[in-house]
Amino acid sequence: MKQRMQALFLFMFCPLFFKNSFSQVNSPTNITDKKWWKESIVYQIYPRSFKDSDGDGIGDLKGLLSELDYVKSLGINAVWLNPIYSSPNDDNGYDVSDYRSIMHDFGTMADFDALLNGMHERGIKLVMDLVVNHSSDEHEWFRQSRSSRNNPYRDYYHWWNAENGKPPYRYSLFDVNGDAWMYDSLTNAYYLHYFSRKQPDLNWENPKLRGEVYDIMKFWADKGVDGFRLDAFQFAAKDTTFPIFPQGFEKNFVLYYATQGNLHGYLQEMNKEVLSKYNVMSVAEGAGNSFTDAHNLVDANRHELNMAYAFDGVDIARPEGYSVLHFKEVFTRWDSAFANNGWLSVFLANHDQARLVSRFGNDGPAFRELSSKMLSTFILTMRGTPYYYNGDELGMTNAGFDKIEDYRDVQTLNEYQHQKNVGGDLQKFLKRKQFESRDNGRTPFQWNGSKNAGFTSGTPWIAVNKNYKNIHAALQEKDPNSCLNYFKSLVKLRNDNKPILVYGKYTLLDKNNPAVYAYTRENEGQKMLILLNFSPANAAASIQLKMSNAQLLLSNYKAAPFVDKEKSIITLKPYQAVIYQL
Ligand code: NOJ
Repeated sequence: MKQRMQALFLFMFCPLFFKNSFSQVNSPTNITDKKWWKESIVYQIYPRSFKDSDGDGIGDLKGLLSELDYVKSLGINAVWLNPIYSSPNDDNGYDVSDYRSIMHDFGTMADFDALLNGMHERGIKLVMDLVVNHSSDEHEWFRQSRSSRNNPYRDYYHWWNAENGKPPYRYSLFDVNGDAWMYDSLTNAYYLHYFSRKQPDLNWENPKLRGEVYDIMKFWADKGVDGFRLDAFQFAAKDTTFPIFPQGFEKNFVLYYATQGNLHGYLQEMNKEVLSKYNVMSVAEGAGNSFTDAHNLVDANRHELNMAYAFDGVDIARPEGYSVLHFKEVFTRWDSAFANNGWLSVFLANHDQARLVSRFGNDGPAFRELSSKMLSTFILTMRGTPYYYNGDELGMTNAGFDKIEDYRDVQTLNEYQHQKNVGGDLQKFLKRKQFESRDNGRTPFQWNGSKNAGFTSGTPWIAVNKNYKNIHAALQEKDPNSCLNYFKSLVKLRNDNKPILVYGKYTLLDKNNPAVYAYTRENEGQKMLILLNFSPANAAASIQLKMSNAQLLLSNYKAAPFVDKEKSIITLKPYQAVIYQL
């Protein structure tokens, strides 16, 4: 039980390793079909922590609007914005109480319209987070639903009448007791919540509910938004007979929760009713349990979604470190499974993870910048649409809070309470959270060296990282060698070389090298070589390629690496990243 709660979110979307379940689909190749969402670089903005305009300590839409020139200066062309709908904020907006209005903390619909306009004027597309696996318990639908068994909204949610005994155990990710059924005395029944008690699961088996969601999507698409990221959607369909799951199922609950029932039918319906009618992109969080599941979500001939967002890669990082061989193997396996059909997202961080450089790189003073640039090089040179989380372009690090009072995230707080209840080791728990808590990635964006890093004139809702005087955007804008300027160069390189870096074939080199990740990207005779040293020591890669005409396009060191042309061996410095045109 203890372990289960500790590992809670880590396992959240982590399926079993996808070893055997994909067989090559014999449909026409579509990987090189040109689409704007394949060519986009998605910059993810966590609005609560981006920029506060009114001094209440909470980021808001006006604040974000005021920084659109910064966003534009990155060179990216799409933004995924975490939820901004009305919400009591049990889970920072992932508990929506009204899907057609803006959260009070964030501003008004007029602010939203101005923001959307401002983005479009700058050539930036806006992808909205759509949270419809569950709503808030303060949504009018749920208020109605719980009011009586006969209410017309009763079937918008999953209820289990208590006279039928206790419902079969379902695991909850955010519940203090790990129990997804919450008893409600008003109607003597339990409701289902895979996340917190304030996030009851919507009943997708009810066509009325589905119709409501499609109308909500049309409302936003008619306003001109350019896409939807479907939160936790792989869990939306359920077997409403609620069969008994085997004991211990929660250790791999994705197997039991993801892509169940008629999920694909609902997505096809959503595609027909909404997605196909607009030029919007669509991505669901999580990609099921197998490559077959992932393909079924995104293969073009199925008319469901555009791209898969899978967690195998991001879940590799562990406090005790990770194996580079494993990292290479996972990303290579995914790429080859999607080499002909479908499309992937490429990411190593988001608002549910601790900071990129602290998890996958080395955030000590000697290597923070180098390893951060190296990881950015990886994300921006793989096949698939890159998703890049705000602040990572500065090499922002984990906050490493050491007191529970510093945390704000419902998941961390409820896990802590659970540990307390069961007499767990709280010190050990806090140590682990310094590495993995989601709040590490949610501290305010570090704009400059003034009070609160220029994020707010008030008291920030979550503490600013103590290192903000040394790590901030204003400083980095002036420094040609900063993480920020390196990131901009990478974005430009990808945008200038779309045939190779977006659509080109990926080939892994020097597979068994335990420190260096080496690969090529190529398209129509054009080839680039990417070499990434994931270690804090010099490391050599044997690449077996002719380097005589190689041109160094980008490196995170001033000096080029040593190339032994005869032997095709390239020696890289610690955390060195290089991109060659061959
Ligand atoms: C996934 C979101 O990314 C996460 O932040 C949220 O807590 C859960 N879904 C529940 O909506």
